[in-house]
Amino acid sequence: MMRKEYFMEKVAIYPGSFDPITYGHIDIVERALEIFDKVIVAVAHNAEKRPLFTTEERRKIIRTLFRESPNVIVDSFKGLLVDYVAKTNARVILRGLRATSDSEYEFHMASMNRSLNTHLDTLFMMTSKDYFFVSSRTIKEVARLGGGVEGLVPDLVTRLLKEKFKLPIPKKNQIGWDD
Ligand code: PNS
Repeated sequence: MMRKEYFMEKVAIYPGSFDPITYGHIDIVERALEIFDKVIVAVAHNAEKRPLFTTEERRKIIRTLFRESPNVIVDSFKGLLVDYVAKTNARVILRGLRATSDSEYEFHMASMNRSLNTHLDTLFMMTSKDYFFVSSRTIKEVARLGGGVEGLVPDLVTRLLKEKFKLPIPKKNQIGWDD
């Protein structure tokens, strides 16, 4: 008889602010789908970070972008990440690492999460070289100052950034959520 674990889904939680989601994040989700059966993209409510997009907006953007990927679940959470993970059937927290500068913060976070719940592991995936320099923070700054972020974030995000910063939207980018 087959043992129970053969039937268990491999689920990873990919938590973050995603304010907004970039191609760097999307690349991590797509690569994770080759390892895990399901990836739960968990948008942190983190009001103290004063996000540009509301939690619901961030969630809706990600859901739209992954609407053709049934193995990507999009959710949001408040409070401690480990408490949220405990309510799911995931055991792995997934994080992308861009540069060595990310390491210290990530190491602290992973260690803290592990001390809060010893059953959890954090798995790091290196960001693809094309997106090594891409962060939500710099994307917002460049977009706010009128610079181009095409190719670094999906067109939907480019358009929504322009709307947030009240910048003109070129005709070719006047697309809906369904594009
Ligand atoms: O995209 P970010 O901002 O680097 O993501 C950070 C996030 C949201 C994963 C982290 O801040 C988090 O887990 N927040 C929830 C609160 C929590 O559990 N804090 C303890 C971990 S040190």
